[in-house]
Amino acid sequence: MEIVFRYLAVVYLVLQLPLEVKTAPLRGCDGCDTGRCENVTLVQESCPEAQLVLDTCGCCTICGSRFGEPCGGAYGYLGTCEYDLKCTVHPSEYLNGVNISGICTRAVCRKNCTKRARDRVCGNDGMWYRNICALRQSKFCKGTKVSEADSEVCGRACHELTVPEHGNITFSKGIAVTSVANITCQPPYILLSGSELRTCVQGRTRGTWNGTQPTCVKHPCELHQCETHERCVLNERNNTECVCGDECPRPQGDEWVCGTDGKSYPSRCHVKLRACQNSTPFLQPSYAGKCNPDEFPRKRKR
Ligand SMILES: *[C@@H]1O[C@H](CO)[C@@H](O)[C@H](O)[C@H]1NC(C)=O
Ligand SMILES: *[C@@H]1O[C@H](CO)[C@@H](O)[C@H](O)[C@H]1NC(C)=O
Ligand SMILES: *[C@@H]1O[C@H](CO)[C@@H](O)[C@H](O)[C@H]1NC(C)=O
Ligand SMILES: *[C@@H]1O[C@H](CO)[C@@H](O)[C@H](O)[C@H]1NC(C)=O
Ligand SMILES: *[C@@H]1O[C@H](CO)[C@@H](O)[C@H](O)[C@H]1NC(C)=O
Ligand SMILES: *[C@@H]1O[C@H](CO)[C@@H](O)[C@H](O)[C@H]1NC(C)=O
Ligand SMILES: *[C@@H]1O[C@H](CO)[C@@H](O)[C@H](O)[C@H]1NC(C)=O
Repeated sequence: MEIVFRYLAVVYLVLQLPLEVKTAPLRGCDGCDTGRCENVTLVQESCPEAQLVLDTCGCCTICGSRFGEPCGGAYGYLGTCEYDLKCTVHPSEYLNGVNISGICTRAVCRKNCTKRARDRVCGNDGMWYRNICALRQSKFCKGTKVSEADSEVCGRACHELTVPEHGNITFSKGIAVTSVANITCQPPYILLSGSELRTCVQGRTRGTWNGTQPTCVKHPCELHQCETHERCVLNERNNTECVCGDECPRPQGDEWVCGTDGKSYPSRCHVKLRACQNSTPFLQPSYAGKCNPDEFPRKRKR
C-alpha cells in the first residue's frame, strides 16, 4: 500500500514539473542515441537562466536543476543538478534501493563540464572561461571568488604579472582593472625598490599595472657578520646594525671562562652577552676556565 502511495507521489511530482523542465528520457542508459535528444538550441531557450548539463546517462544536454529543485529519480528523470550543486536524496526517499527523488543542495566540486555549452564567459578576475560551467568549477574546485562579469572586463584586463623570484603575489581581482597585486618576498628575502602594491589601472586599450616591479633580495643581514652574542637588525635608514642577541650557542665541550666580574661563564659569548645586555662594557672575559678563587682577589686589585 505504502509503495503504491509513493509511486503516486512520484507521478504527482513529475506532473507538477512545467513541461520544458529538465526531464531526461525515461529509459535506461543503454547506449546514447543523440538523435533522440531534444534540440540543444531549444533546450537552451527553454531555460535561459539555467546551466546546460548532461543527463545522468551522459547523453543528452538538458537544463540543469537549480538549487532547491528536484533531481535524481530512476535514470535521473527528475533532472540533473547544475555543476556546482549536488543531488541529495533523503533516506526516506529511497525505494527498493532506487532513489525516488532528490533535491539539489550545496556546492560540490565536479570536475566535468559538458562540452556542448561552450560559450566563453568573462570572469571578474579578467580571465576568459570556456563556459559558465568552467567558471563555476574554478569557483568551487579552486575556491576562487570569481563570478561572471561583463566581457569588457576581460578585454581591458592587465597582462599577467610575473612573480618575482623568491616572492609571491596575491591579487584582489585577478588581472581585472582595479585589481590590486600584493607582492611579498619570502624570508630571508626582502622587497627592494619597486612597489609592494600595484594596481591594474585602465589604459587606452587594456589595463596596465602602475608602480614598478620590485625584486626580492637577500636580507642585508644575511651578508653582515655580527659577533656571536649579537644579532643583526635594520635601522631606520635600512642600514644593518648589530644589537645584543637573546642567547648564546650551547658551548661545545669545556668553554668556561672567568669574567672580570669574578664570575664563571659557560663561554666567552655568555660574558659578552651579559655585558651587552647590562650595558657594562668593562665586563670582559678574563681568562679561560672557571674562576680560580685564589687568583681572583689578585685580579680585582689590579
Ligand atoms: C535546432 O533548432 C534550431 C532552431 O529551431 C535550428 O536552427 C537547428 O537547425 C536545430 N538543430 C538541430 C540539430 O536540429
Ligand atoms: C541515489 O542518489 C545519490 C545522490 O545523487 C547517489 O549518490 C546514489 O548513488 C543514488 N543511488 C542509487 C541507487 O541510485
Ligand atoms: C567527463 O565526462 C566524459 C564523458 O562523460 C568522460 O569521458 C571524461 O572522462 C570525464 N572527465 C572527467 C575529468 O571526469
Ligand atoms: C609563496 O610561494 C611559494 C612557492 O613559490 C610557496 O611555497 C609558498 O607557500 C607561498 N607562500 C604564500 C604565503 O603564499
Ligand atoms: C600583503 O600580503 C601580506 C601577506 O599576505 C599581508 O601581510 C599584508 O598585509 C598585505 N598588504 C596589504 C597592504 O594588503
Ligand atoms: C596605483 O594606483 C592606485 C589607485 O589609483 C593608487 O592608490 C596607488 O598609489 C598607485 N600606486 C603606485 C605605486 O603608483
Ligand atoms: C626601508 O625598507 C622598507 C622595505 O624594504 C621601505 O618600505 C622603506 O621605505 C625603507 N626606508 C628607507 C628610509 O629607505
